[in-house]
Amino acid sequence: MTTASSIGYPPGPHSILPNKLLRGFMHDPIKTLVAIARTYGDICHFKFGRQHIYLLNNPHYIEDVLIRNYKNFIKSRGLQVSKRLLGEGLVTSEGEYHDRQRRLIQPTFHPNRIKGYGNIMTSYAERMCQRWEDGITLDIHKEMMHVTLEIISKAVLGSDVKPEDDEVGIALETCMEYFNRLQMPFGELIEKIPILPINKGYQIAKKKLDSIVYSMIKEHRDKENKGVHHEEDLLYTLLQAQDTEAGIGRMTDSQLKDEVMTIFLAGHETTSNALTWTFYLLSQHPTAEARLYGELCSVFGDKDAKRIPTVEDIPKLEYTEKVFRESMRLYPPAWTIGRQAIADYKVDKYVIPAGSIILMSQYVMHHDSRYFSDPDLFYPDRWTKEAKLQLPRFSYFPFGGGIRGCVGEPFAWMEGILLIATLCQQWKMHHDPDHKVGLKPLITLRPKYGMRMNLEHRK
Ligand code: HEM
Repeated sequence: MTTASSIGYPPGPHSILPNKLLRGFMHDPIKTLVAIARTYGDICHFKFGRQHIYLLNNPHYIEDVLIRNYKNFIKSRGLQVSKRLLGEGLVTSEGEYHDRQRRLIQPTFHPNRIKGYGNIMTSYAERMCQRWEDGITLDIHKEMMHVTLEIISKAVLGSDVKPEDDEVGIALETCMEYFNRLQMPFGELIEKIPILPINKGYQIAKKKLDSIVYSMIKEHRDKENKGVHHEEDLLYTLLQAQDTEAGIGRMTDSQLKDEVMTIFLAGHETTSNALTWTFYLLSQHPTAEARLYGELCSVFGDKDAKRIPTVEDIPKLEYTEKVFRESMRLYPPAWTIGRQAIADYKVDKYVIPAGSIILMSQYVMHHDSRYFSDPDLFYPDRWTKEAKLQLPRFSYFPFGGGIRGCVGEPFAWMEGILLIATLCQQWKMHHDPDHKVGLKPLITLRPKYGMRMNLEHRK
């Protein structure tokens, strides 16, 4: 073990066994991170090759990095791959440019501005229910990926995207798949062999997506110029966004294109994972599932009196909200956040040298018994008002925080709660007992083998 007193590094796994550590990360990164955190404490250090890595497991240290001292960090060099798809959108841009774009875009996600998307969310959920049949078994993760993609495309592009016209969806799925492959160990090699079909497929899909988005931007601008645009889709609000006080003008076509692609990509897989894990947890906890259904019946009526949930119902769906919150505690869709120090940075008695990587893991923190009693237990009732006030802010941070925190958080809460309410009102899901459940921690925390569920229609 390296010790702080001998060479100034915080404690951590032994650096003369780097292969063991690397194998641990390749095989099961979450288990490895949790083991390091539980063994070595609030600040741990280890190395991958020559790269120094610091894992922070104290909510106050995390708050300092993400909020108070955020200017001391960038999101890290690993973003180069993502930049080829997302350009200079919010997820991949850095520094002052990012902060200006953020200032421009954040208001378009204000809860009051996004209320109108509630009926897009419930109508696509309803449409999905119409395809489902009593007694069938299907992969609920696939269903959630599909419906959240439909929702985000429609919310961004408005009436110009027709539900039956799936070319946006197909192109996006191809890009997502490619993107995820590149993040896997040795994934960067894929790009070096241009003749691989996956590279060709990606190039075609990306070109298609770029041209669809550019033509949508043109249509929206034309309509605006003619004064005929009445619909408040996200592209329209982004197109109009400007901040005269800060002297930030409207975005160019290429800036808009990057932000739209970013919102497509950032805005559906996380939510679909969160929903998939929620349905899994409910299938394993019949008492919680019955309480949830009870709440839905009391708000929307039962049997024949049912109606479609709306945004106005959300404040009444207290238990539903707790279920979604608890599900993102146990299975945080973004399971770890990384930053790179651009100048030396002090944490406790240690100096983290410039160039080091800092990891802050939602999964590790959300399972820490110092903040959550019986941390592996699914217990939505733990989320009382008092508990929320007492918890240190970064003991629970599924959406990150600060200027780089999730800009789509209000959208995600709305979508999560409305979809749970719409689906659980009509269907009870039973997990297929022959189907394995595992974690696949890529950029997001996916279910490794999908999630096979048997559907029971509530008559
Ligand atoms: C349950 C759903 C979601 C979760 C758990 C989630 C989580 C996160 C997290 C943790 C970050 C910060 C990453 C970091 O600090 O390195 C982030 C950033 C971001 N998210 Fe989300 N997200 C969700 C849904 C959404 C949705 C629905 C949208 C858009 C409609 C969205 C758009 C973004 C964007 C654009 C960023 C980059 C913000 C910036 O750097 O300024 N996310 N998200």
